[in-house]
Amino acid sequence: MLIEQENIENININAFQNDLITWFKNEQRNLPWRKDQDPYKVWVSEIMLQQTRVDTVIPYFNRFIEWFPTIEDLAEAEEDKVLKAWEGLGYYSRVRNLQSAVKEVKEKYNGEVPSSPEEIARLKGVGPYTAGAILSIAYGIPEPAVDGNVMRVLSRILSIWDDIAKPATRKVFEKAVRTLISHEDPSAFNQALMELGALICTPTSPSCLLCPVREHCQGFYEGVQNELPIKTKKTKTRDVQLAAAIVFDESGKILIHKRPESGLLANLWELPSVELHHSMQNEREQVIDLFNQNHNIKINLEKIIGQIEHVFSHLIWNISVYTGKIAFTLQESEEWKLVTFEELEEFAFPVSSQKMFRLYQEQLEE
Ligand code: ADE
Repeated sequence: MLIEQENIENININAFQNDLITWFKNEQRNLPWRKDQDPYKVWVSEIMLQQTRVDTVIPYFNRFIEWFPTIEDLAEAEEDKVLKAWEGLGYYSRVRNLQSAVKEVKEKYNGEVPSSPEEIARLKGVGPYTAGAILSIAYGIPEPAVDGNVMRVLSRILSIWDDIAKPATRKVFEKAVRTLISHEDPSAFNQALMELGALICTPTSPSCLLCPVREHCQGFYEGVQNELPIKTKKTKTRDVQLAAAIVFDESGKILIHKRPESGLLANLWELPSVELHHSMQNEREQVIDLFNQNHNIKINLEKIIGQIEHVFSHLIWNISVYTGKIAFTLQESEEWKLVTFEELEEFAFPVSSQKMFRLYQEQLEE
């Protein structure tokens, strides 16, 4: 901490704020969530942007706001429709938490996003980063909004060598932002740090020669910009072997399954699957037995149409994809449905299921 303190004292804070904010006002991208300061829209955009790139988020954000223009609309929406709006973005607990929190805002705060740091931080899914982003961008309150990008930028500007993979390190950067932030325009200041991270101070080969705050940058001065930030590797992901099946009934409808209401991909629909284990049995027999045991479903497996890999933050699914036919009469329920290809559009599926539908379509075309 001593070192950072010294580095902050090296900076001309006023000049730094001016150079950073002037650059941002001239060069910022025209993004849909920057059209107004509606706290709800800022909130939605920040949740979407947490694990997802700006280019990917833009169409999702526009459609989400079209479907749910206000807090009331989102609070009252069917969860299935909300999941459909998020389909393909991943980390679906983000949107489930967002909807719970929005319901709380509707009931407890009369539909207005609270502007106090304590109240906003108590909302479900609103961590310190999101709280700071909403408070500064929507309400102009000088709170830090420190995510991985901001840590990268500031680790270079202030030559901070703490490991940004450690949760405790965020506090070091929040303290730095409290010292540096413009009280005249906290919104532009925080967004400028994010924008600098996206456009100039990128993870690999930062464009220092184009940087508006190069002359304030300790990392550049020391020639260590490419060594920062320090970020230790996270633990290895786990591999899981699965088999999934596109199973048809006699009328050509497809069997789909709703996942449990908690855990990975909660409440999304999927093609039914089973987890495979090392066994003396051949895979095909094991799949048939497991469908029977785990799902109480008898199927006649046809052929294997391919393999799919799907990477999550902590595990990797390796899926053998089969086609098959139902060998009994299925009683439809809340979690098992038979649907036509056209009707698949109405359900929210994880990307892994979408990859399987594509695989099926490709082999039809062959
Ligand atoms: N990344 C996180 N928040 C952002 C924002 N408001 N604008 C652009 N990129 C971001």
